[in-house]
Amino acid sequence: MSEVPATPVDRSTDDRARTLVAQMTEDEKFAWLSGPMAIPLAGEDKPEGALGSAAFYPGIERLGIPAMQQSDASLGVGNLGNVRPGDHATALPSSLLLGATFNPSLAFESGALVGREARQKGFNVQLAGGANLVREPRGGRNFEYISEDPLLTGVLAGQSVAGIQSEKVVSTVKHFVANAQETGRVMVSSNLSEAALRESDLLAFQLAIEIGRPGAVMPGYNLINGDYASENAFLLNTVLKGEWEYPGWVMSDWGATHSSVKAALAGLDVQSGANLDDAHHFGAALRQAVKAGEVPQSRIDDMVTRILRSLIEVGALDPVSALPIDYSQHRLIAQRQAEEGIVLLKNAQGTLPLAQRAKRLLVIGAHADHGVLCGGGSSCVPPIGSLSLPGIDMMGMQVAKVYQPSSLVQAIKEESAAQQVDFLDGTDVTLAVAQAAIADAVIVFAQEWRSEALDAKGLGLDGNQDALIEAVAAANRNTIVVLQTGGPVLLPWLDNVAAVLAAWYPGSGGAPAVAGVLFGRVNPSGRLPITFPASESQLPRPEQIDPATTTSNPGMPRKGEIIPINYDIEGSDVGYRWYARQRLKPLLPFGFGLSYSTFEFSDLRVNEPGKVSVRVNNTGPRAGATTLQLYIAKTGEDGFAKRLAGFEKVFLAAGEQADVEVQLEPRILARFEEGGFVIGPGNYRVWAADDAEDERLGVTVTLHAP
Ligand code: GLC
Repeated sequence: MSEVPATPVDRSTDDRARTLVAQMTEDEKFAWLSGPMAIPLAGEDKPEGALGSAAFYPGIERLGIPAMQQSDASLGVGNLGNVRPGDHATALPSSLLLGATFNPSLAFESGALVGREARQKGFNVQLAGGANLVREPRGGRNFEYISEDPLLTGVLAGQSVAGIQSEKVVSTVKHFVANAQETGRVMVSSNLSEAALRESDLLAFQLAIEIGRPGAVMPGYNLINGDYASENAFLLNTVLKGEWEYPGWVMSDWGATHSSVKAALAGLDVQSGANLDDAHHFGAALRQAVKAGEVPQSRIDDMVTRILRSLIEVGALDPVSALPIDYSQHRLIAQRQAEEGIVLLKNAQGTLPLAQRAKRLLVIGAHADHGVLCGGGSSCVPPIGSLSLPGIDMMGMQVAKVYQPSSLVQAIKEESAAQQVDFLDGTDVTLAVAQAAIADAVIVFAQEWRSEALDAKGLGLDGNQDALIEAVAAANRNTIVVLQTGGPVLLPWLDNVAAVLAAWYPGSGGAPAVAGVLFGRVNPSGRLPITFPASESQLPRPEQIDPATTTSNPGMPRKGEIIPINYDIEGSDVGYRWYARQRLKPLLPFGFGLSYSTFEFSDLRVNEPGKVSVRVNNTGPRAGATTLQLYIAKTGEDGFAKRLAGFEKVFLAAGEQADVEVQLEPRILARFEEGGFVIGPGNYRVWAADDAEDERLGVTVTLHAP
């Protein structure tokens, strides 16, 4: 991956924006610098003209500027609090599943789907582009983030953003930066040295911004090194707007603004969700600061110019030509993505694909007769027909535990030749064991619901799920477990079951995708975008903060003090890099995934600096895809643990081979030193690998000082 130059904004776009700003009154400018959440809380009403969504800013008819209607999020057009009763939208699979596809073009395609639906529904800003690294495997919003690796995250987030914006809808990237956990999310300070930050979390955003050119950036709720993200001058002015020459606008998260002058001068452009803040910082207070000369008028004009430039740049101000949304086509796109992101974690004795001789099947758990699980919070998309169960209260809104209407049982009936498919909810283990004993095969759907504002407590499956799986597996040796989780989980029964799939939260097309893999229509090709730990003791911070001791939402009374989190323990060695550096063996490594075919890598060559070629051969019985992963580690004193420096998903027919050339991302080979990425002289080990632990095929390359 070569560094994509940050292309400056087109002159005409800039001129058009500045011309409009020059014609705006001060009131019109300030009407765009702060606004309430356009989802009415108890007793409130949504703003006049608002569709009902995360945010609304009034249009300026005399200047031909439409209202700004902002919707969540990366996984489709959300409908938090059912603010638009009866609204339907396509639910993409979770971002972890997107990460598991390792497929940038799929990221673009599914982003474009979200953009199309948003635009046709009247939205012109989509609060998408979740690009935080999965630093905390128990994080409640990991399902909204793509992976633990900066390259995979940055490339796929960037392509998803580009897809959304290709449909004339501005996308954000969020939450800038190091917003890794939900517990105390408004109280934690992510503490990390600059070099570590640059080589990890910041690099993911830098790549996403270079590739996707998002119109807006959303800092998170957290502090970074003691300064709130929304008023962190180093991150917003020095890095984002200065060094990276970012032309778009910076909107705070909802209820995440903490000052007027400091934030305005630090680079914040909009106070979002102002009704959740302790004050209307970007209202009268900011106007007063301008009058008093504490904030120059030019800063106010720059704020509005940035917003208009982004809207003009993507075409959001162009008239919307009404086109019907083809929901059936969109569901198939979501299904295809799910098919490519499901990871086959175990397949003993070729249990899968389930042979057609399996005439009597038993399906257990996770409301599989109704639908597929969806993560909770602002990113949840509840298509019509969703099953909504009680979840959590977030900022005074009920966040339901949603099962999207894609019946796994129905899909299994349609995909298999079984004469009988029974379903049990799994609460009665004795009954499940009795039924399992007389079935040809058992498919247990294990679930783990994660949500915004709620981290997982530990890594285990809750309730009786582990006991149920153990008991059923003892009664039937053809027991298959399908995980629907928002992150890695412990698998204590892994040795006792025949096969395991990670289906993540598989979205509107999830059920046919899962059934397609189970019965062989789909050859699984997903790879783990996150490490599955063997135990919590392997984590850099095994202990979790007790949510009862802190505040995890804006607009709530603050409990306790700011909590420093020392991310310098692992530094830039997040996830698999930590396991490599600490010489720990996880349960399942990053990049791991099985197939119904077999593949071989050979003939590894490092060509001109940064280009690597490998021969990939499908040595198995059927067509399929494998993901060539190129890891690099610097040996010696100033060395660093292995890092993913390039990847390519390769589709091959049975017996077919291809010579694949991958451009390595140079910043992955570098250390951040004295203000820049420096690739130092020395020996580098390069592997062409199947996962982060695979070191069968490698070469050593020596780089000499210039
Ligand atoms: C939420 C989330 C953010 C979302 C915004 C609007 O609290 O942190 O991701 O886009 O508020 O709903």
